[in-house]
Amino acid sequence: MEELKIPRIHYLTRGQGTPLMLVHGFPLNHTIWNETAALLEDQAQVILPDLPGHGQSPVVEPVTMDSMADGLAAILDALGIEKVVLAGQSMGGYVCLAFARRHPQRLAGLGLVCTQAAADSPEKRQARLAQAEQTLAEGNQRVAESMSTLLTNRPEMAAGLKHLMSSTPAAGMAAAMRAMAERAEMGDFLPQISVPALVMAGLADVIIPVERAREMAASLPDARLVELEGVGHSPMMEAPQATAEALLGLLKRAQGA
Ligand code: MLT
Repeated sequence: MEELKIPRIHYLTRGQGTPLMLVHGFPLNHTIWNETAALLEDQAQVILPDLPGHGQSPVVEPVTMDSMADGLAAILDALGIEKVVLAGQSMGGYVCLAFARRHPQRLAGLGLVCTQAAADSPEKRQARLAQAEQTLAEGNQRVAESMSTLLTNRPEMAAGLKHLMSSTPAAGMAAAMRAMAERAEMGDFLPQISVPALVMAGLADVIIPVERAREMAASLPDARLVELEGVGHSPMMEAPQATAEALLGLLKRAQGA
């Protein structure tokens, strides 16, 4: 395994029990999990990181899926935790898949929420790299504005999400966009993930279609697929109860219950 610089990742923990790390997507921060985490903290030690360039974590180059996965492993080291149930939304899911490949011995269960194993197409990759340049030149508002309505199927949540994304610096957005553009195709790796997996999709997700979730669930050896009606790209905010229940089910399967 290549040596990578471990980014300093800000995180906080809530509750006690089986370690459960919840990773946010682009260009958000750990607070998107607050409502869901509150429903889990009496049964789990919930660990909430801010990915590099998001929330309170600085950008530490290189930002890649692998370096972010190593950053999550470094949090486990700091907390003295050997194995974790790891779940991530969208870009957070890309990081979780990188973690599963780089640190399989530390994974007790895997949650993939509104995410995909597929890499960017060449066209998408070019568009993302151009968008990263534009964001660096113009600032973070274009992304915050355009994504606020795409991230949720609940229009009343858009303003809060825009406010949240406005706190993510342009440099953090650009680094994450480059990391997503360069991420590896993980479809062929899924059959090697033997731990219990939860694949969750919002049927109203306009960023990542439900087919990506169905494909992952079919390729993972021990997956449960949960599809949420009327829910968009942010089930942890749009449907915290259903999200917490699904994650509790994953925790139980990871404990062999
Ligand atoms: C995310 O929600 O994390 C990103 O939009 C995912 C992506 O653009 O691939």
